[in-house]
Amino acid sequence: MFENTISTEAADRFYDRLGIGHDRAEIYEGLAKKQGLARLDLRPGQRVLNVGVGTGKEHLQLQAAVSPAGAAFGLDRSPVMLKLAYSRTGAPLCQADARRLPYVSASVDRLFSSYMLDLLAAQDLPGVLAEFRRVLKPGGRMVLVSLTEGVDWRSRMLVGAWKTAFRLNPIWCGGCRPVELAALVQNTGFASVQREAVVQWGIPSEVVVAER
Ligand SMILES: C[S@@+](CC[C@H](N)C(=O)[O-])C[C@H]1O[C@@H](n2cnc3c(N)ncnc32)[C@H](O)[C@@H]1O
Repeated sequence: MFENTISTEAADRFYDRLGIGHDRAEIYEGLAKKQGLARLDLRPGQRVLNVGVGTGKEHLQLQAAVSPAGAAFGLDRSPVMLKLAYSRTGAPLCQADARRLPYVSASVDRLFSSYMLDLLAAQDLPGVLAEFRRVLKPGGRMVLVSLTEGVDWRSRMLVGAWKTAFRLNPIWCGGCRPVELAALVQNTGFASVQREAVVQWGIPSEVVVAER
């Protein structure tokens, strides 16, 4: 994994400018997110937190799955993304950083985060995962979806091209690079850690499922 990526400020500027254009990534991210949402195993009445809500497409599904008595909370650093997600969902959202979650410990049943950890610096990942674990209730489930390493010749080739672009200028990739998070998740103290790779249009993603 590349240790460093774009700065937090550069990521803020990038996602504020990208806005609704981010929905185009569905073409290679949609399948892995669909799989990740299914693995959350949401039930009506649960409290679910979505970290890095983006434009809010998945958040709509989280809301539907926990309604009517549950709640789907979300956060993002980008005010533009928050506005888009709010216009789509009307959900309780807040501007916050994944490194310092503004939620009390053991307060959510489920935590979902897609394509956000792959744009954070490697040094931030243990702290962010510890925050995810802190807010989950004992027995609560977390699902992470991220860009990952290739699994067959086509996806290895495409990931090779992605990494070349990232080396030249990581902003061309929105700061995202392939990651493999299962070992880190395990080392943070999560249990029952499972990982599967999902390839769409040759781009590989991983879905990591773990329990507190
Ligand atoms: C690639 S987008 C993914 C959005 C959405 N989860 C999806 O799958 O479509 C990454 C999102 O994470 C947000 N983000 C980046 N760094 C963050 C941080 N440290 N804390 C909270 N949100 C962050 C960005 O503003 C952006 O909306």
